[in-house]
Amino acid sequence: MYKTKIDLSEKVRRAVITVLNERLADAIDLQSQVKHAHWNVKGPQFIALHELFDKISDVLLEQIDDVAERITSLGGTAEGTVTVAAKRSKLKNYPLSITAGKDHLYYLSTQLAVFGKAVRAGIDDTAKLGDADTADLFTGVSRSIDKYLWFLEAHLQDKA
Ligand SMILES: [Fe+2]
Repeated sequence: MYKTKIDLSEKVRRAVITVLNERLADAIDLQSQVKHAHWNVKGPQFIALHELFDKISDVLLEQIDDVAERITSLGGTAEGTVTVAAKRSKLKNYPLSITAGKDHLYYLSTQLAVFGKAVRAGIDDTAKLGDADTADLFTGVSRSIDKYLWFLEAHLQDKA
């Protein structure tokens, strides 16, 4: 931990940083999975899905940067290598063999939902710890993830 004049105790900062590093790992893993889908999706919806998946990857890269920089703002180390992310991520491995748009939509929506749930839990956990700013950061992340979960699921909901 690095010294900082921020008005949050080291105990609080340590606990919040642990949560942030867990979600950072998930986000790095998820971003790589979304990019994998961007590269490998095939089928009649190719160009729409190729572009949508790239947009979601860009959103995740911004979230990764925000989460990592919140960690360093709190005096911690943003543990953001893919090696650490792969070990720590709570997401399931992405199937490498799928190609059809609907299969990528199914797996990506599943992964976004898992990530969104973990981030939402992080809102309450960090609020209870006394860090309203990290809770606010997680609130923004989860709201955006909910939106892109809708974008993905809308492709699969042409029949109610
Ligand atoms: Fe690309």
